[in-house]
Amino acid sequence: MKHTQKLLFIVCFILVLGFIYYASWKLHLYVWGQTPQRIAEETTVVLTEVKRITELKTDNNVGRIVGTPVYDTQGFSLNLDKKLPPELAYKYDNLSEEECKPGYAAAKMTNIYPKFIKPAPMFLDQNFRRLGKVNSYLPPFGFRTQERIIDSILTATKYYGLGKELDSLRCKRCIIVGNGGILSNKSLGSRIDDYDVIVRLNEAPITGYVKDVGTKTTMRITYPEGAFQKAELYEKNSLFVFSAFKPLDFKWLRQMVFKENLRGTQGFWKPVARKLPREPKEIRILNPFFIQEAAFQFIGLPLNHGLMGKGNIPTLGTVAITMALHNCDEVAVAGFGYDMSTPYAPLHYYENVKMSAIKESWTHNISKEKEFLRKLVKANVITDLTHGI
Ligand SMILES: *[C@@H]1O[C@H](CO)[C@@H](O)[C@H](O)[C@H]1NC(C)=O
Ligand SMILES: *[C@@H]1O[C@H](CO)[C@@H](O)[C@H](O)[C@H]1NC(C)=O
Ligand SMILES: *[C@@H]1O[C@H](CO)[C@@H](O)[C@H](O)[C@H]1NC(C)=O
Repeated sequence: MKHTQKLLFIVCFILVLGFIYYASWKLHLYVWGQTPQRIAEETTVVLTEVKRITELKTDNNVGRIVGTPVYDTQGFSLNLDKKLPPELAYKYDNLSEEECKPGYAAAKMTNIYPKFIKPAPMFLDQNFRRLGKVNSYLPPFGFRTQERIIDSILTATKYYGLGKELDSLRCKRCIIVGNGGILSNKSLGSRIDDYDVIVRLNEAPITGYVKDVGTKTTMRITYPEGAFQKAELYEKNSLFVFSAFKPLDFKWLRQMVFKENLRGTQGFWKPVARKLPREPKEIRILNPFFIQEAAFQFIGLPLNHGLMGKGNIPTLGTVAITMALHNCDEVAVAGFGYDMSTPYAPLHYYENVKMSAIKESWTHNISKEKEFLRKLVKANVITDLTHGI
């Protein structure tokens, strides 16, 4: 009798464990899930992921037999010239040079980085609490502790996409325009303007530099200290995309959205804009997942228990590229890369500060970040128009 009780107890225990495992798997499927259709897509993603992991394991085994590893510590293939699977290669080769290639950047990325999972919304919307990967991290890697402020901001902004026209495009080409001096005198303006989505960063101006940087801006990604202070510099018809680096940043955004007088400016590391000449419907909050993924998965910066620490914040440019990998079909960049071998070259295209002025940064790790961007360029995941990476 005692024996059977013991056995029964063990069986119950195993059943409970099994259920917990099953439930956590189910929950995983809901990570980005919003509608049943999304969940179905997610399931196929998970399934292909399982297939990929199996392939990865076999690859690794093969690698071990030969004695050379196949992936680097971040999980990128060591063979960056790897060809796309034949069916994809055929599909893309069959398109003309000028045609936008659907899913191209994600396909190239997955080819060299099998862990890549494409779905990740660009901006936070009212279901943001369900974003499993970010809801447990504090800013900048997530939004924990800021949920109520975000709720109140989102009830005012009301829109969560790029706008009707861009959202309905079957294939989107995006360009991230960096602020590097390397953009000067290259007359890339009209090429940049040809992209569907043009992303600019912080206070990099257009006026006076149109020939080199173009005229269109789909969105400008920034944070309080990086935003234009002069109202006249904000271009019309562009989205103000907010990227938070610290909890205080959300407070700033709420005051800007509700057009309140700015209170509590201690805590910013330089003066910040006191007014944002944008309507709430032109404001978006960037999904903090892109900061998290760039830092910990792609670049491999120190986790520091998931908190901001020395050298673990990616630059905004790399965050924007990460966002584009998930949300654009083709991704290009221009104005990226610091060339330390030319100390007298201008650091930014819009001011006279020299390259030599760039100091060892406490927050960023420029050299480690560059290793990651180089992999993307080498493997043709992204196109670098100015060849600075
Ligand atoms: C390749 O291109 C041709 C002509 O543009 C088209 O008719 C054909 O269906 C394409 N094949 C594939 C597999 O996309
Ligand atoms: C760009 O051209 C202008 C005018 O020719 C020149 O003054 C400037 O130094 C050039 N900038 C760079 C970075 O070469
Ligand atoms: C950048 O990363 C490298 C390699 O991990 C490390 O040696 C270096 O100290 C880091 N620099 C900063 C500023 O954190």
